[in-house]
Amino acid sequence: MKKLAVLLLIGASFVSHAAPQSPFMTNVYGRESVSLDGTWNAIIDPYQVGEGKKLFLDRKATDPAQFYEYSWDGGLQLEVPGDWNHQAPELLYYEGTVWYSRHFDATPQSGRRQYLYFAAVSYRCRVYLNGEMVATHEGSFTPFQVEVTDILKSGDNFLCVEVSNTRTADAIPAMSFDWWNYGGITRDVMLVSVPDRFVYDYALSLDAGSGNHVNVSVTMSDPGIQEVTLTIPELKVRKTLRTDSGGYASASVKVSGLVRWNPGQPKLYDVTISSGGDSISEQIGFRTLSTDGTKILVNGKPVFMRSISFHEEIAPEARRAVSQKDAEYLLGNAAELGVNMVRLAHYPQNEYIERLADRMGIIIWEEIPLWQSIDFTNASTREKAIRMYKEMIWRDRNRCAVCFWGVANETRPGEVRDAFLTEVLESAKAMDDTRLFAIANDVVYYRESSGKFEMDDPFTEKLDVVGVNKYMGWYAPWPLDPKDCIWDVAPRKPLIITEFGAEAMYGVCGNEDWADSWSEDYQAKLYRDNLTMFANIPNLAGISPWVLFDFRSPYRFHPTKQEGWNRKGVLSDKGEKKKSWYIINEYYKSIR
Ligand code: GCU
Repeated sequence: MKKLAVLLLIGASFVSHAAPQSPFMTNVYGRESVSLDGTWNAIIDPYQVGEGKKLFLDRKATDPAQFYEYSWDGGLQLEVPGDWNHQAPELLYYEGTVWYSRHFDATPQSGRRQYLYFAAVSYRCRVYLNGEMVATHEGSFTPFQVEVTDILKSGDNFLCVEVSNTRTADAIPAMSFDWWNYGGITRDVMLVSVPDRFVYDYALSLDAGSGNHVNVSVTMSDPGIQEVTLTIPELKVRKTLRTDSGGYASASVKVSGLVRWNPGQPKLYDVTISSGGDSISEQIGFRTLSTDGTKILVNGKPVFMRSISFHEEIAPEARRAVSQKDAEYLLGNAAELGVNMVRLAHYPQNEYIERLADRMGIIIWEEIPLWQSIDFTNASTREKAIRMYKEMIWRDRNRCAVCFWGVANETRPGEVRDAFLTEVLESAKAMDDTRLFAIANDVVYYRESSGKFEMDDPFTEKLDVVGVNKYMGWYAPWPLDPKDCIWDVAPRKPLIITEFGAEAMYGVCGNEDWADSWSEDYQAKLYRDNLTMFANIPNLAGISPWVLFDFRSPYRFHPTKQEGWNRKGVLSDKGEKKKSWYIINEYYKSIR
């Protein structure tokens, strides 16, 4: 028998586990599916009377006395995936309910199961299939699925989705946030076909301790002891595991000759997991993450994060980013700036972006939108946060580019917030101990008494990395010359400046000392001043200017300077480079 270049260490894979049941299958894009993207019919329902009219039944008059005050034919049509805001002028600012529907043909196959999978719907929805409510979901940025094997009809099926983007105080994000409240079926929809028993969930990672073992866990769709095989051909790995009675198995597989994924050197391996008649494949990279004092280490080597942020938005078309092509546009522009990291603002973005970052070798910081004013006193909000965080981890934990899980953005320290975030953090850590947990705080203040920039936030002691959003020269005037600024913030941890910047209108030249000039010159000088200050932060481990593109926000309603756009981009909403773009590009080239 060919000597396997693999010494197999069998993990405790025979202890029966109550296998963690992700709410959706892993790697749906690796599955056989029929896309339900395309043109859907739509009905705008601002007074929410659609449920009473039973829009989900698609009724037609069949006798002279009947009439229905709705029709799915002849009205508004919307593209899926996509936000509704950019698709009809009357929907630009719309916050409320829109009903979507479409027909599709299905041919149920014996011995196989069918799932409806929604990559995201913004913000909450109820899904009806052939007149029956089959699923609901809350949260604009994580997927959900529902098995429809027994409901699907052979031939024509009627799919109807009630969507609402109405803001509520108990939501995540809550009543106000600095980005457009896009509503709609904003990501892919598909009808997925899988064998009766299939590989439901799996996770692979390079063991941080040994550095030459791949840890693998697999959960089958159904309980029962069954064999599962992991193959990584390029590493000559072929490992068979036996699940426990719950359908769960794990192992630690020694590998030799593994080339690690690094920022800028994105090595990925073809991985296949199979069991019985089922098999699923994708490309996965392997790396380790750690911190050493104030350094962030990737594969044991310090890496300074040359980052930028962007929203999931194609600014020139004022719309949500939805596709592979959109992911290439966003990450291509980030790569041109010279980054090795992107902080995805402020929510899990579509999978095309995370998967492309794997392939491009760009580190990702990902977070759920616990953004500023969240109702931390609300237990149901806390449960939502924990669920959304789990959904983000379940979806992206095989993406080696994702290195940071951000816990929150600009939340105020305090007993209730700390308790809330601690529960979210502990729940997330129980799922994934292979990544660094971080936060983006805006509670760093200059103190006359000490003459230093300082922060009081005990919660940060629980984190691996501390992020600071600080708008010196924009929201906060300089208390002293940038070169004299002293920072004493989380001194024993790596610190990333996770936001800084200023608004500037592309093409506007003006007084570099006047914020109200809204000029590229003011923004450029502010960037230079901030870089001067950052040079003296002893535990600086990275910077992430806010933001790559100007982006849409209802906050930003100055009639001649903003017109509904936040102008802090280093690129205009048309993708034009402002002077600040060149400053960051030069800086990133100088520190590569
Ligand atoms: C905050 C916030 C961003 C916002 C930015 C701004 O730091 O995190 O979401 O857009 O400031 O004011 O432009």
